[in-house]
Amino acid sequence: MIKICKTIDEVRKEVKQYRKEGLSVGLVPTMGYLHEGHKSLIDKAVAENDIIIVSDFVNPTQFGPNEDLADYPRDLEKDAMLCDNAKVDILFAPKPEEMYASNGCTFVTVDGLTNELCGKSRPIHFRGVATVVSKLFNIVTPDRAYFGEKDAQQLAVIRRMVKDLNFNIEIIGCPIVREEDGLAKSSRNKYLNEEERLEAIVLHRALVLGKEAVAGGEADASKVKELIVDMINSESLSKIDYVEIVDAETIQPVSIIEGPILCALAVSFGNTRLIDNFSYDNEEK
Ligand code: PAF
Repeated sequence: MIKICKTIDEVRKEVKQYRKEGLSVGLVPTMGYLHEGHKSLIDKAVAENDIIIVSDFVNPTQFGPNEDLADYPRDLEKDAMLCDNAKVDILFAPKPEEMYASNGCTFVTVDGLTNELCGKSRPIHFRGVATVVSKLFNIVTPDRAYFGEKDAQQLAVIRRMVKDLNFNIEIIGCPIVREEDGLAKSSRNKYLNEEERLEAIVLHRALVLGKEAVAGGEADASKVKELIVDMINSESLSKIDYVEIVDAETIQPVSIIEGPILCALAVSFGNTRLIDNFSYDNEEK
């Protein structure tokens, strides 16, 4: 039976007991409103650890002033049910005041990797992510932590933070889970109206086109981006924030595709901003 913890002390007490018993702990950090994408992270964590802790916290510090913090979908009861069915041991669902003291003034910033892609249009986002993930790592002290590859820049930032700050935690990236028509699963998909939802399929189609071009030998990043941009612009409701090709580790734009790359995009349909990506490594061909 799943246990819901609302306080840091409760989680620490449970983890202390697990450690005494020599059990390994896997953490799946989430902002709740769980879907099949989260479930795939949980399933992987269940397969690789004795104890699974899922955090369910809409983290205010990663939202900008004009973003969707207040409207972000929440459903703790449904999340608890999904977690219980998936054999999660603890659902950690703190209130913002439990996670952040009103006079808190310490933040974690990861330079360089956060300047491009989503970091450009969401300048404080990754500082908030790195800070809350550090806090969760310190509270839960997991052996492994699981993150989706849909947020590829976030995954790169967290890997770098773990390396630079010597967290003794293995970071596991998990493949993007898609709807049948290719749209990447996201808690934000529920904002899309019928017409936007139909048009949003173009993101995956455009990425497949781009990946085929790269796999076929196109090494000029601007040509690949152009193919993707043209296809997305063919849908009348799409508004591109960015389509970019970057080095997979440093998240710096490349003009020639040689080593491992990440091709990432952010596109709005109405008020809903969606992200998606593909990775490609010539070496793995
Ligand atoms: O990916 C998310 O849902 C969030 O950014 C995370 C990692 C849970 C931090 O709030």
